[in-house]
Parts: sequence; C-alpha cells; structure tokens
Amino acid sequence: MSDDQAHPGGNAPLLVASNRGPLTIVAVSGDDGDGDDRITRGSGGLVSGMQAALSTTPHAVWVSAAMNDRERALARRAPKGRISELPEVADALRGDFDVRLLPIDALTFRNAYNGVANSTLWFVLHRLYDLPTQPSFDATWRRQWNSYVRFNRAFATALAEAAAPGATVMVQDYHLFLVPKMLRDLRSDVKIGHFTHTPWVTPDDFAMLPDDVAHAIVEGMLGADVLGFHTERWADLFRATARAVTGVDPDGVRVFPLGTDEDEMQRLGGRRTVDNALRVLNDTVEDRLLIGRVDRTELSKNVFRGLLAYRELLRTRPEWHGRVVHAVYNNPSREDVPAYREYTARIERLAADIDDEFSTDDWTPLIFEIGDDYPAALAVLRRSDVVFVNSVRDGMNLVVLEGLVLSERVPAVVLSRETGAVETLGDDAFVVNPFDVSATAQALHEALLMPVEARRPGAERMRAAAIRLPPTKWFQAQLDALG
Ligand code: G6P
Repeated sequence: MSDDQAHPGGNAPLLVASNRGPLTIVAVSGDDGDGDDRITRGSGGLVSGMQAALSTTPHAVWVSAAMNDRERALARRAPKGRISELPEVADALRGDFDVRLLPIDALTFRNAYNGVANSTLWFVLHRLYDLPTQPSFDATWRRQWNSYVRFNRAFATALAEAAAPGATVMVQDYHLFLVPKMLRDLRSDVKIGHFTHTPWVTPDDFAMLPDDVAHAIVEGMLGADVLGFHTERWADLFRATARAVTGVDPDGVRVFPLGTDEDEMQRLGGRRTVDNALRVLNDTVEDRLLIGRVDRTELSKNVFRGLLAYRELLRTRPEWHGRVVHAVYNNPSREDVPAYREYTARIERLAADIDDEFSTDDWTPLIFEIGDDYPAALAVLRRSDVVFVNSVRDGMNLVVLEGLVLSERVPAVVLSRETGAVETLGDDAFVVNPFDVSATAQALHEALLMPVEARRPGAERMRAAAIRLPPTKWFQAQLDALG
C-alpha cells in the first residue's frame, strides 16, 4: 500500500496550518467545568493576517494546536477536532471556514512550543541569545526536540487526512518547519506553501543549532513547493543557509510582503471602546506630543533600549520636559518562558526609574502599561505623533503599518533598520540602528521637531505603502505562486 493510499484524504480544497489558531478559548470557571468560556481573537500579526485572508477564501480549513487544557478538552469533544461545529464556538467565528484544533498532549505541546519554537528557534532567528551561557543543547533539550518532531507529525497527519485530492496547504511559521516534508511524504498530490513570518539569519548564526537539527529544518521546509518570506533580505539569508546546509541552491523561495487592511483597522479603531480609551489617554497627554508604541512583551521588540533612548532624550534635551509623553503599551506574551518574565520585570523597573527621575505634579512623561486591553492599544496608535518601533529584529512589524492607518496626528515614524517594514517604509521613516541608544534618542528628537506640514508628504506615502498589500492580496499572491 502506498503512502497516498494510507492517507486517502478528505474534502478540503484549501488548508491553513498554524500553531495559534484564530480563536483563544479560556474557561472562565476552571478548565474542566461546564462554566462559560471566554472566546477571543488571538494576538499577533500572523493571526490577524490569516483571519482577514481566510474569510474571503471559501471552504478553507484552519488546522491549529489546542493551546490550553480547555481547548484540548473541546478539541477532544468535537468531531475530528472541528471545534467550529460546536455551537458555543460557531458564534464567535467570523468568516466562512472550519477550524480544527489538534488535541496534542500537554507535555508534547509545552516542549514543542515553549522549549523549541519560542526558546530556541525564535531566539536563533531573532539573535536574542546571551551567548556566553546560551544556547546549550543538552539531553533535556533533545527531549524537547523530539516533542517538536512529534508535534509537527501530528499536523502533517491531520492535514493529510483532511486535504482533498490536489488540495493547497499553506503552512505557517517556525512552529511547523518540519511539516512540508512530512506532508509531502504522506501526500505527493497536494501543493504546499510555507510562510516564515520571522526574519532569517546568516548561515553562521543558523549553524548554532545542532547539525542534524539544522539539516532537518532546512530539509523540512524544502518539502514545500513555495517558501515565502516578508522581504528580499530574509529570503536571501534563507537561500544562503539552505546552500550551506544542503550544498544546493533551493528552488521556490519567494517574497510576499504583508501590509495591513485599511478598512478593518478603521473599523476596529473607530469603536466606542477605543474612543473612550482615547479620552482617558488625552486626560494625561493633553496637547503634548506623543511618542507611541504597542508591542507584545517580547524580547525582540527592544522596549528596554527604547526606554533607554527616551531617558537619554529627556536627559540631554531638557527642552522637551513637560512637552512630550511616551506611551508604551505592552500585551503580555509567552509568560511561561522564564526569559520573557525576567525581561518584562526589567522593563517595568526601568519604566519606574524613568517615572521617578522626571515626573512632576503636572507632567507624566511616561505611560507604561502591560495588559490585555486592545482598545487602549489602538487608542495609543490613534494619538501617536511619533510611531516608535526599534525591534532588535522583526520579520515585518505590522504595528507600525497599523499606526500609519490609525494615527490622527500625521505621524512621523522612528523605525529599526532590522525590521522587514523598513523595506516598505524606509525612504520616509527615521531609520535607526536598534542597538544605538544615542542615535535612537536623536531620531526621536528630530521626529518630534518636525512640523506637521513637513511630516505630511512622508506620512501619506508611508500610509499608502502600508495598505498596498493587505492580507487578502498577500495570501492570494501565494496561492497564485503555487499555481
Ligand atoms: C509572531 C509569530 C506568530 C505568533 C505571534 C504571537 O507574530 O510570527 O507565529 O503567533 O508572534 O506569538 P504567540 O507565541 O503568542 O503565538
């Protein structure tokens, strides 16, 4: 019996696979109770991008991992994990597609997601390691890697079961690097795309991984017909890495930049809850200039050096005292990973120090919040005179694009040269080296000094660039590339 016969397939003509699905389900009264569930839209650029794209693609199935005990319980109860068929979930799903959650056991999930995807692959691809002590690939890590392999196999098996003959399967991101080859081995008839939403690194940086792991990842990805990246820079680095690992030039490596959906952002940003949050923000900001940023509590976003740059601005340019406010809105992320918790504590301490050093009875120099309040985050973007992104490294950074759509202040942009977005906006942004705190402070100063009328032409060009390739077009371009 051939592999194809072992997996005769299902009836889905188009499938998307990603670790995080479009919905997050949390039991309000305990994981196994019958209490109400809180069902929310997932966070992160990938989720918003895929959701917008899928809702315009009929009959699609989105396969993702159950990420907590409640989701695992629902996935076990739903027919073939299709939670979109459960009445309590169907209501919360916008768009015409099925959602299938894989009830991968909790330990395998934790090892694959926190151990390998978040603590190893994310760190390698964003160059976040503190190299004198990390990484170290020991026996514990090897067990985590084995979980990552099992986790990827669960996806490949589910996709092979659900895909119709000749179906198209769009695999997302670093959680699922092994899926393309595994799926190809099960189903030679399907078309496979893989998209990497993170940056890529040089062959030397990638070679930090154990040789067999580096090999498995590159071979796993090369099982796809088309491998997508946000920018030429990341695509070129992948080509160089694949050549270094396999000795041959890879085919099918393509660039698909992702922009933001103007209508969707206007709709979200125009809600009454955001108006209310904006009023609250304005009570503090009044008529001062606002430097705004919105991030996950994510090491790669470089909030730490961003705060150092703001402190240096206030120390070296006292003329800004009382005239500027910096709003930093952080959405909690990956709190099970110790490095994230430690980082979050460090930026909180630094924010408190800045507040102590500069605040007066009638001036709050820094608004620093960690929370899950999406309207408050959107209010920051609506009010920003300067949108500030200084990532250490960032596949694209959608927030800066969203800020350009939402800001009501003709924004200037201070943007890290290590983001994918710099290829979209670089000509009109104040582009900074994210490690150079003094240069970042200087860029903030120049951005604040620029009069509104001088900012306008650049802001308009950047806004047009930000909305040129909304998620639907980005997705369609990949389907076209797969033929
Ligand atoms: C980045 C990744 C996505 C991920 C998102 C949120 O944008 O590229 O794959 O979903 O971060 O991270 P999380 O770990 O919460 O899913």
